Amino acid sequence: MATDDAMPTKPMPRFPDGFLWGVSTSAHQIEGAAELRGPSVWDAFTAGPGRVKDGSTAAVACDHYHRYREDVALLADLGVDAYRFSVSWPRVDSPGGIDFYDRLVDELCAAGVRPVPTLFHWDLPAGLDWLERDTAARFAEYVSVVARRLGDRVGKWITLNEPAEHTLLGHALGVHAPGRKLLFDALPVAHHQLLGHGLAVRALRAAGAADVGIANSHGPTWPASDDPADREAAEFYDLLLNRMFADPILTGRYPEGIGELMPGSAERVDADLRIIAEPLDWYGVNYYAPTRVGAPRGAEIEFGGVTLPAELPFSVREIEGRPLTDFGWPVVPEGLTELLTGFGDRYGDRLPPVVITENGCSYEGLDDRERIAYLDGHVRALHRAVEAGVDVRGYFVWSLLDNFEWAEGYARRFGLVHVDFTTLERTPKASYGWFRDLLAEQRRAPVG
Ligand code: BGC
Repeated sequence: MATDDAMPTKPMPRFPDGFLWGVSTSAHQIEGAAELRGPSVWDAFTAGPGRVKDGSTAAVACDHYHRYREDVALLADLGVDAYRFSVSWPRVDSPGGIDFYDRLVDELCAAGVRPVPTLFHWDLPAGLDWLERDTAARFAEYVSVVARRLGDRVGKWITLNEPAEHTLLGHALGVHAPGRKLLFDALPVAHHQLLGHGLAVRALRAAGAADVGIANSHGPTWPASDDPADREAAEFYDLLLNRMFADPILTGRYPEGIGELMPGSAERVDADLRIIAEPLDWYGVNYYAPTRVGAPRGAEIEFGGVTLPAELPFSVREIEGRPLTDFGWPVVPEGLTELLTGFGDRYGDRLPPVVITENGCSYEGLDDRERIAYLDGHVRALHRAVEAGVDVRGYFVWSLLDNFEWAEGYARRFGLVHVDFTTLERTPKASYGWFRDLLAEQRRAPVG
């Protein structure tokens, strides 16, 4: 693979010793073998007409279930320290389903790649519902089963992936499974996932886990202007997407005005918050881009493939003057530095070491120089956060493989490795070579 002419020329600054380099995937997006597991809310959702843009499903996806050996070999050649994948709860609920993760973890350990499982990445078993409080307890029971089975080989665990997106896209706006359009009535889904997270941390600790985190999505919120109405709208958006999910975990409190909206009495919410705030060993951040937010415009807005209803108390605006990915997302590497230093300021000593659990972009093609530029810019921006004093311990690229990109189907390609969805052939892209070279360079002993 000719990567040399695609390589950015400025040397990458060195990250601290022991920094964890990895790539991420999720079960529903890559595994396939849907007939060998129980149904999830995503199976039901994709079966409905017009839900997934290209009309596809994840029944086969990358067929990782059968091709995991080939994929682990790609990870080993890439030279990553760690691989973040997710465990499918409906598969674990099916007879013999957990054996797959046993095999995968063995294969990773044999290849010298640390397994980092996420225990929930949106594929809830059909029949369960995050609107129900009991789902949190059911989640913790399932987590105990997985921890007991894999805990002898898995050290690092992630409870949930992006409860904010699962609440917003799946339950408030209805563009993801389970397809509910509840707007603010979706808030119990946030609380129950957070409670599930806290109970899962306890279940993992009870099984002996000593390295536990979460993968929350965050991004800076930029007001559309200095106008007080725009600033107020931006603050509210920041509260909903960032603080509502970080504050309870890191401070044991909801932001002002939010706790009252959560289900149950004030005493019960307080008791839940004590569980939600179980101390973590590290805090995972998925970062893609900042959001520019202004006062509501009283009309529906099309944004990033999602229709935002007119009744929301904010409107999302374009970030102008930036390159866009194929998904239409602006490329703003310094947003990552801003986010992390802002987190340091906001949470101080309460913020445990940070790991970037996802960062990446969708672009077509094998000679994906735009992806290299995106990743290069973001890794440098991350280093600036380290220099500014944020304790960052790892960085995971989203994603190893092109995959089933939820409501976008197979139309968006986030992989370092191209997947031909007809033949399922894997072909490393230029960015795979770039990342491999970066890792090799980072490990080389410093000169002098
Ligand atoms: C999710 C991934 C998704 C990626 C790109 C993240 O929000 O965790 O599952 O594929 O973004 O959209």
